[in-house]
Amino acid sequence: MHHPVLLDQVMDRLMVRSGGRYIDATFGEGGHSQEILRRGGIVLGIDLDPDQVKRAINQKILHQFGDSLKLVKGNFAEIDKIAVNNQFFMVDGVIFDLGLSMGQLENSGRGFSYKKTNEVLDMRLDPDQTLTALELIKKTSVEELENIFSRFGEEVNSRKIALSIVRLRKKIACVGDLILAIDQALGYSSQKTYARVFQALRIVVNNELENLKKGLQRALKLVKKGGRIVVISFQSLEDRIVKKFIRDNQLILIDKKPISGLFSYERSAKLRTILV
Ligand SMILES: C[S@@+](CC[C@H](N)C(=O)[O-])C[C@H]1O[C@@H](n2cnc3c(N)ncnc32)[C@H](O)[C@@H]1O
Repeated sequence: MHHPVLLDQVMDRLMVRSGGRYIDATFGEGGHSQEILRRGGIVLGIDLDPDQVKRAINQKILHQFGDSLKLVKGNFAEIDKIAVNNQFFMVDGVIFDLGLSMGQLENSGRGFSYKKTNEVLDMRLDPDQTLTALELIKKTSVEELENIFSRFGEEVNSRKIALSIVRLRKKIACVGDLILAIDQALGYSSQKTYARVFQALRIVVNNELENLKKGLQRALKLVKKGGRIVVISFQSLEDRIVKKFIRDNQLILIDKKPISGLFSYERSAKLRTILV
């Protein structure tokens, strides 16, 4: 079982109690859910990636919790519907641990990581969704690609990279081909640029920012007064959405400053706890 980033801090801030009800909106490899269950909580786990849900179902380790864990494949953008369909409301807390799990980066075979040069450029969390990263690259104009890399990757060399991709796109099929196109655009290799380009493509393919906006707003309706919404974000675009959500709804934060943690792939995480 995966030991998630900032596990103890998340448990403290959720104030998990025996018999309390919690939604793990990003079940992943089940690290947060398992700890909530171990402390006697009841969990509705949600994940958009069906492989995450299947693996957990096959894993004996979660069987011990019996009916205390309900697991569904779904999009947290629809957290309200999912909760109602599973008679799981009102709740004491919701946790959003955004981004991808290590397992998805390392073993999904879907081209999420720039390090996996032989993988196809798929990047869909949900295989029922139609658009893959490769289709996006093949179909999109230079201007649109430039816009995607600059808006969702905050990449300064967006134009050069978009031009190089469009010039080479007939030959692009896998992660390594995209890396080559980026290298040709820059004239050197830069892991930071790869990460930004991959992040941008993933955000668009999975509609990540819109999902987050909807997920937070809809979670608010499910949490009891005095309950908590915990969000772990990994990049500034997510951060901005979380901060705007807090401002627009005049919500109170438990910690004055976000709690930081370092995650693998050298990404830094920010934990915020919202009091409902
Ligand atoms: C960082 S991982 C979570 C790790 C988890 N906390 C653990 O302990 O293993 C993020 C998970 O959220 C899932 N995810 C991303 N977007 C989602 C969405 N819109 N709805 C539901 N799950 C989503 C991903 O598939 C991934 O499994």
